[in-house]
Amino acid sequence: MAVKPKLVSAINDQIQAEFQSAYQYLAMAAWFEENNLQGFAHWMRLQWQEETNHAMKLYTHLMARGGTVALQAIKAPAKSFSSALQVFEQVRKHELAITERINVLYELAVKEKDLPLQIVLQWFINEQVEEEAVVEGIIDRLKLIGADGPSIYLLDRQLGARQAEGAGETA
Ligand code: FEO
Repeated sequence: MAVKPKLVSAINDQIQAEFQSAYQYLAMAAWFEENNLQGFAHWMRLQWQEETNHAMKLYTHLMARGGTVALQAIKAPAKSFSSALQVFEQVRKHELAITERINVLYELAVKEKDLPLQIVLQWFINEQVEEEAVVEGIIDRLKLIGADGPSIYLLDRQLGARQAEGAGETA
């Protein structure tokens, strides 16, 4: 079943939003690296990779369904921050907005009776629940540590241990 034009355009908008997220997280990775928090930087680089994967999941779906991928402009991301906590508060705000977008896209897929797209978006809905929970957990730990606590380096080490999605799985 070919994708309806209205959905092609909405999927292209979401591809842009995922690449925009990737770009934002890469800018955050650079900020952490400049501030000698290599573990946080590593975590953000993986987040950049994940967001790129999200964009490509939609790209692949659109291609498989005979739709046209029309890549859109990506804005320059925010690049200066006041603290690790402020960075993660921005991530939370950003992810909540992405969740809202995914929900609206899903509602459109239901309205247009596009079942394959609904299945793809269910994966995104689950992913958003996970992402929000992980970010919330990091914010909680940052608040416990406080702005200038030396324990930030402990958390830095923990975040530095994050593995790429699917790492350790046998193919
Ligand atoms: Fe692709 Fe973080 O949502």
